[in-house]
Amino acid sequence: MAMEYSEKVMEHFAHPHNVGVIEDANGVGEVGNAKCGDIMRMYLKINDDGIIEDVKFQTFGCASAIATSSIATDMIKGKPVEEALTLTNKAVVEALDGLPAVKIHCSVLAEQAVKAAVADYYKRKGIPYAGPCDDCDGGCCVHDHDHGHEED
Ligand code: FES
Repeated sequence: MAMEYSEKVMEHFAHPHNVGVIEDANGVGEVGNAKCGDIMRMYLKINDDGIIEDVKFQTFGCASAIATSSIATDMIKGKPVEEALTLTNKAVVEALDGLPAVKIHCSVLAEQAVKAAVADYYKRKGIPYAGPCDDCDGGCCVHDHDHGHEED
C-alpha cells in the first residue's frame, strides 16, 4: 500500500537535523513504542538560564519517526525548557504538513521523547515534575496531574 508523505516529511527523513549524541547532555530521554518496536533517544543541553542550547536525537525507527524527531528538535532548540514541554505531537505533525493517519503515533513518540528528556533534566536538578505518563496521549502532564491520573 502506497503511503503519501508530504515533501517536508521526505526532506526531514532524507536529511534529518540534529542527529547524534550530546556527551555532556543534562537531560536524556528514551521512549519506545511497544507495537512497532521503534526507539527514540533525545539529548538536551540546557544552560543555567533554562534555555535549550543544544538538542540531538537518535531514532531507531521508521521514516516518520525520524522526520518527527528532526522537526521536533528544530522546534525546541534555543527555546526555554518550559516551552519544550508545551510541544505537542499535533504541532509537530502540522509543521511537517501532515502525516498519514497510521503514522500519527510516530509523532507521539517525538513528543514523548522531548518530555522524557525534560523530565530527566528536572530530576537531575531535583525539581519536581510529574509526567509524561503512559495514559496520556500528549499535551498533558506538563506541570501537574490535575487531569485525573493516579501517580505511581
Ligand atoms: Fe513506529 Fe513510526 S512506525 S514510530
